[in-house]
Amino acid sequence: MNMPALYHTQVSTQTWQTAPPEGMMKVLTTITRPFNDQKPGTAGLRKPVAVFRQPHYLENFIQSIFDTCPALSNAALVIGGDGRFYNREAIAILLRMAAANGVKRVVVGRGGLLSTPAASLMIPHVAAAGGFILTASHNPGGPEGDFGIKFNIANGGQASETLTNAIYQRSLNIDRYLILDTAAGIDIDAPGRQALAAMSIDIVDPVAHYADTLERLFDFERIRTLVANGKFRMRFDALHAVTGPYAEEILEHRLGAPPGTVLHGIPRQDFAGQHPDPNPHDAAGFVRLFMGADSPDFGGASDGDGDRNMILGRGHMVSPGDSLAVLAASARHVPGYRDGLTGVARSMPTSQAVDRVAGKLGVPCYETPSGWRFFCNLLDAGMISLCGEESFGTSSNHAREKDGLWAVLFWLNLIAVRGETVDEILLQHWREYGRDFFQRHDFFIADTELSEQLMSRLANSINTLAGKQTGGLTVRTADSFTYRDPVDGSISRNQGLRVFTENGGRIVYRLSGTGTRGATLRIYLEQYETDQSRQQQTPASVLAPLARMAYTLARLENFGISTPTSII
Ligand code: G1P
Ligand code: ZN
Repeated sequence: MNMPALYHTQVSTQTWQTAPPEGMMKVLTTITRPFNDQKPGTAGLRKPVAVFRQPHYLENFIQSIFDTCPALSNAALVIGGDGRFYNREAIAILLRMAAANGVKRVVVGRGGLLSTPAASLMIPHVAAAGGFILTASHNPGGPEGDFGIKFNIANGGQASETLTNAIYQRSLNIDRYLILDTAAGIDIDAPGRQALAAMSIDIVDPVAHYADTLERLFDFERIRTLVANGKFRMRFDALHAVTGPYAEEILEHRLGAPPGTVLHGIPRQDFAGQHPDPNPHDAAGFVRLFMGADSPDFGGASDGDGDRNMILGRGHMVSPGDSLAVLAASARHVPGYRDGLTGVARSMPTSQAVDRVAGKLGVPCYETPSGWRFFCNLLDAGMISLCGEESFGTSSNHAREKDGLWAVLFWLNLIAVRGETVDEILLQHWREYGRDFFQRHDFFIADTELSEQLMSRLANSINTLAGKQTGGLTVRTADSFTYRDPVDGSISRNQGLRVFTENGGRIVYRLSGTGTRGATLRIYLEQYETDQSRQQQTPASVLAPLARMAYTLARLENFGISTPTSII
């Protein structure tokens, strides 16, 4: 292959005057000034598209990553995204910058697509030093929507807190970035090998390796039999986002589900104007499909970038905390987990249902802060096999990201083996372990300062709450959650405020770290119930007293906040 040498030059703008010597490609060392808002949140840097489109904004952040991780030069990188608006432009910039920074090879999902779990699997598969996943997950897309960029490391997982902070620090001092003057001639829709200066570019099928991996974990033969019997009906909603092609390949082509099983399967740049988040609030239409007597037997949905999942049975959405607990309790039914689990983990606000399963299995259960990256050390160390979050995220040691279709296939495998409905599986689980009623109340607060005042006032009083009574409930203990990573000993403080009641209830407060405008206060409510005759109540009725207590303790009214924006 003819690989032109790089010709370095320094410019203060991107306008190029002099032609480079024959056969060389121009690297522009572009002078820039730092932006002060490039601090990544719970999962990467997310901002409105308009912010990313400011001159030098994306370039500054990318160069901060290259400067912080010199090992990326001379190595391979994976690039792909959820297909949202600005994905292609961002990939063109990334390719030009990767080549200018000396990257040897990039592997790009065809069309610029790679779901988050597929990218996470692809990174170690091609022995890449890292990967760029272009996504703002479930945030809305389109010119008025959001864009995002996540940097994942060689194991396929998100950059650690320490690395993320180092990248942020670099972004505050950056004064130049390197970029090739053109990526003309590169076609990310054409499979095969191409080259940009000395960097080779492999455009790969975004689905095949991911689908092959899942096929090794689950009993496809058994699921095929379930799907083929004609009585079992399922639907998967891709919400116009990235999982469409993945679900069509796996559910319809490999497992034989009838065409039409996958709804909204064509990824759209603006997700058809919707909020691609699989939860009863944003995917209410899909949930309604399951509430009739003649509804399908099983439903699954995933989010913008394919890492979240929602599981539905006839008349029921499975609460994510319950889903994690059920999967842990029946993991031995599934080929990939036949040898049992080494341990499990959940994010702190997630219901404690999985703790009870771990107790019975005699394996450790770890409680981590919100955000998938906190699971990765435990997964790398082989300390856990399954993990999950209340925010509709579940996965296992097969990847270093949460994985939406993985959870759907796990449930299908269970249903195929156990011959029971989703409802029957859940009822039996609650009979055995008790039920953890769970809800999350989200409050959008336009004024971020007000939200911080609310949280700091509550944090300042958290140690004085024990013994306090409101509405017939008594606080047993209360604290601010600090995590000590058992693998590297790192400490993460202020990861949410917890209140435990005398009667087995729990309230958690934290501010969202993924929003791009204003603030979102999240209040998580959980109530444990072992009495079978009381397990069929609705979460809303069981959790109403706890909700009142939560609102009172946080003095929401004093802050002019009354009704939640959503209850999930
Ligand atoms: C939310 C969820 C968290 C999840 C993250 C990325 O973050 O709560 O569990 O890891 O999205 O999907 P938050 O907005 O609460 O910071
Ligand atoms: Zn996501």
